[in-house]
Amino acid sequence: MKLAQFPRYRMTFGPSPLQRLDRLTQHLGGAQVWAKREDVSSGLAFGGNKIRKLEYIVPDIIASGADTLVSIGGYQSNHTRQVAAVAAHLGLKSRLVQETWVPWDDPTNDKVGNILLSRMMGADTRLDPHGFDIGIRDSWKQALAEVEQTGGKPYPIPAGASEHKLGGLGFANWAFEVAAQERELGVFFDTIVVCTVTGSTHAGMIAGFAALEDITGIKRRVIGIDASATLEKTTDQVTRIARNTASLIELGRDLRDDEITILPGWAGEHYGVPVQSTMDAMSLGAELEAMITDPVYEGKSLAGLIDLVREKDIPASSTVLYAHLGGQPALNAYHSLWDDQGPAKL
Ligand SMILES: Cc1ncc(COP(=O)(O)O)c(C=O)c1O
Repeated sequence: MKLAQFPRYRMTFGPSPLQRLDRLTQHLGGAQVWAKREDVSSGLAFGGNKIRKLEYIVPDIIASGADTLVSIGGYQSNHTRQVAAVAAHLGLKSRLVQETWVPWDDPTNDKVGNILLSRMMGADTRLDPHGFDIGIRDSWKQALAEVEQTGGKPYPIPAGASEHKLGGLGFANWAFEVAAQERELGVFFDTIVVCTVTGSTHAGMIAGFAALEDITGIKRRVIGIDASATLEKTTDQVTRIARNTASLIELGRDLRDDEITILPGWAGEHYGVPVQSTMDAMSLGAELEAMITDPVYEGKSLAGLIDLVREKDIPASSTVLYAHLGGQPALNAYHSLWDDQGPAKL
């Protein structure tokens, strides 16, 4: 297995912490629920899952001699904020295409939260009217060309760092980090629940847990919860990146269909727009565990986990690990979801 041979530039504090969610577990009355907290795993601008992906990309950035990281996302993209953070950390510039991915007409949407943090870190943020799409975008290619035309040397990082050849490695390694923590704590997570949109977080986990299964002979379920509301595109992308990552780490076999599971049902009609189950999940996480989730990603995957545990699709005998991938800065643009009367009814 070749994973250890890929250089990793450390920007996380160490293994991300595991947290037992005892009050949520008790409330749901089924499987034991734990969280692994990517949202508190790095000191760079509130961290999140992209920092872990970028740890395997930074050596390539440095080797390229680039002076500007060019990336893309929505106005409230966590990913572009983390690219800006990595650029600041490395002493590089960042050029961010911030598209109109979410039909969310709060007047602060292009001003607060993630985009504000990116601007504070010196990023060149440009608003763009294009809508949601997890694929390779012309607006991003144009930004790359513009950096070159003005004498810069761009380094391309696609949406979510997913369509990057090394994008899946961070979360392939996450699987091995989980296994080491399990040994330390004497616990075994038979089920992992993770939010999936641009795909390389989930895809990396699929490849990593497949490699782990081949070593230990023990199977587990890795359940992706779709938050893209474009299920087919996300499924294609997860499958492609999982296979690429598996071959990169020399898994030595094809992935089985049962290793690639993406469940719809909690994304609502549109990426970035919360629905009632998102609100209920965000409220439960906050009220029972002070675990803050966002309405774009983690609120939706938490809603999936809650239903799967309640309905015993994840059986009561299970111990389930919820991958908390970050995302809280976007909450600022969603302030209207709560007021002194409590959570909004959607
Ligand atoms: C907080 C958060 N959760 C989940 C995801 C989904 O991860 P991925 O894009 O790798 O599927 C993202 C990024 O898109 C994110 O920022």
